[in-house]
Amino acid sequence: MSEQDKKVYLNGEYLPLSSANVSVLDRGFLFGDGVYEVIPSYCGDLFRLQDHLDRLQASMARIRLQLDYTLQQWLDILLPLLDSSKDQYIYLQVTRGVAPKRDHAFPAESVPTVFAMCSDIQAFAGVKTGVKAMTIEDSRWEMCDVKATTLLANVLLRQQAVEQGCAEAILHRKGYVTEGAASNLFAVIDGMLITPEKTAEILPGITRQVILELARDNDFQLAEEIISLDALAMASEIWITSSTREIVPVIELDGKQVGEGVPGPLFNKMNELFQAYKQKL
Ligand code: PDD
Repeated sequence: MSEQDKKVYLNGEYLPLSSANVSVLDRGFLFGDGVYEVIPSYCGDLFRLQDHLDRLQASMARIRLQLDYTLQQWLDILLPLLDSSKDQYIYLQVTRGVAPKRDHAFPAESVPTVFAMCSDIQAFAGVKTGVKAMTIEDSRWEMCDVKATTLLANVLLRQQAVEQGCAEAILHRKGYVTEGAASNLFAVIDGMLITPEKTAEILPGITRQVILELARDNDFQLAEEIISLDALAMASEIWITSSTREIVPVIELDGKQVGEGVPGPLFNKMNELFQAYKQKL
């Protein structure tokens, strides 16, 4: 089946991707007025689904978009999209819907647009080899805890990194690091695994949460606290984490080798724990 023929979900219907159309007056199209989730599915099992749905609900609450689906309603929407013979991920987007005209303020009434599609997970080669990253000033807004479809800043930051031969932009504000353009960040500094604490300056990643749980359960020295740019430059390991790439070791930052210039021992241990946790589920 070609990508264009694959079945997607749009507002109560399943239809081929090529026939799934939304109005040009949809506020997601005009204003990026929507939120989304990316949910991995390993052989048909949605990974940490409740956490993803809780974050979606939190994002919707932050942008005052009301849609109260139950877990069963979400399952009814998402499960028919999955192929249980593969590792895939669901892209799920909810916008404020179609308004009668373009106006920044919310329309008096609107029905949210709900869209979901499934894609195969392509194993990311950088997990094995490690990747290059660069630090860039964080130019995003002050609600980075919302998984908003309004991603122009993230797009520009990632593109800037890619054009420099890097897999990710590691973002910083006022001298401390926040996260990646589409990932969370961990660093190993003096043997301690550190990740920036949860604030509105970062997305509360589900992969981040799983890693914190695994680190706690396996007696890693662990802290959620500020990482300055200077401290990051001294880190013996740096990882970036996300639902689609999982845990990726950064072996070169701003043109300088990180640690030994290969995926580090704590990464190897955590990646093993993470893969075992996935298998167990
Ligand atoms: N992005 N921070 C940002 C800004 C992100 O966009 C993402 C993921 C993460 C990691 O969150 P999680 O572990 O829940 O995937 C952190 C997804 C994958 C995307 O936009 O495609």
